Amino acid sequence: MSAKLPVGILGATGIVGQRFIQMLEHHPWFEVDWLAASDRSEGRPYAEAARWRLKTAIPSRVANMTISPAKPDGAPKIIFAALDAAIARELEPQFAAAGCAVVSNSSALRMQSDVPLVIPEVNADHIALIETQPWRQSSRGFAVTNPNCSAIGLVMALSPLHRCFELETVMAVTMQAVSGAGYPGVASLDILGNVIPYIAKEEEKMEEETQKLLGTLKDGRIEPAPFAMSAQCNRVAVEDGHTESVSVRLKRKAKPEQLIAAWNDFRAEPQKLRLPSAPEQPVVYMHAHDRPQPRFDCDLGGGMTTAVGRLRPCNVLDWKFTVLSHNTIRGAAGAALLNAELLKAKGYLG
Ligand SMILES: NC(=O)c1ccc[n+]([C@@H]2O[C@H](COP(=O)([O-])OP(=O)(O)OC[C@H]3O[C@@H](n4cnc5c(N)ncnc54)[C@H](OP(=O)(O)O)[C@@H]3O)[C@@H](O)[C@H]2O)c1
Repeated sequence: MSAKLPVGILGATGIVGQRFIQMLEHHPWFEVDWLAASDRSEGRPYAEAARWRLKTAIPSRVANMTISPAKPDGAPKIIFAALDAAIARELEPQFAAAGCAVVSNSSALRMQSDVPLVIPEVNADHIALIETQPWRQSSRGFAVTNPNCSAIGLVMALSPLHRCFELETVMAVTMQAVSGAGYPGVASLDILGNVIPYIAKEEEKMEEETQKLLGTLKDGRIEPAPFAMSAQCNRVAVEDGHTESVSVRLKRKAKPEQLIAAWNDFRAEPQKLRLPSAPEQPVVYMHAHDRPQPRFDCDLGGGMTTAVGRLRPCNVLDWKFTVLSHNTIRGAAGAALLNAELLKAKGYLG
């Protein structure tokens, strides 16, 4: 019998669900034990129900697993959730109420005041919000979320600057990969040779999530970080990896070498605790004048490292730079996995 903790995946057949399966294949603590998706997939073998879109093969023990109904009966107590927000809003509370630890990717509960929105390197202390959730009181279940795939790369790059020099203003313009829209996602005729300057609700998510993530836990609630923030989001014809052009004004003056050192020296709880999915270096500054680029750099640190480059003075704010982060690894499945590892290390998973 395996000593690993059994986990389930809600939305297992989708783009993020597939990443979960890939990342959990050789995980030292967790083992996939249960898969669920829509009633279109229910009752079918995983390999038949999922249109597998990753470059590694479907793990053999998962390929023949039957897709279960998306209901808490018979599900394990740790659930990774990769559902569309509208469905997640209905299903995630049902699993938390049934006593499950719901580690969610969707936006459904992210901004709820008693739900932690967590990047373990940035705000691991926000996990304590779990204790304020009614599910926790009634069934010991709870929900924890990770941010939107473009907010996470931005916040990984901003957090070291905010700690050392305090942010006053942030402007970010994204160039987001098509895999961020799920499968089948954006029609090829809409995106080939094109840029789409609109992603529904994405700018609002980036702005509010960034301030919650960099906010402060006080008296059982999060006070959002007070800096001014504006985001503009675009979909581009890139497969994986969200690139962002960022400008910041800082409260304390800094030299470029101090900013670069703040990024390269940034280490936090996941590195101290040696969590299995934590990258050795969460943020890497690339000195080449034309990097980072999604095709070459989004897999840094197994897709868990955020790449920063092109630091230069900004004529309007203080500094500008480029950020790159893997949207389905650090921006989704890897983010949730690292959250689950943090929860286990902190004793929340039994
Ligand atoms: N893609 C990214 O880069 C990314 C990054 C961060 C966060 N997210 C978030 O993660 C979530 C999943 O995204 P995705 O890109 O993986 O989407 P996706 O490829 O469209 O997959 C959606 C999944 O939800 C399942 N599903 C649909 N309706 C259902 C229902 N009524 N009951 C149960 N399951 C149902 C689908 O199952 P069937 O196959 O049976 O239809 C599929 O497994 C979304 O909230 C998204 O915003 C995505």
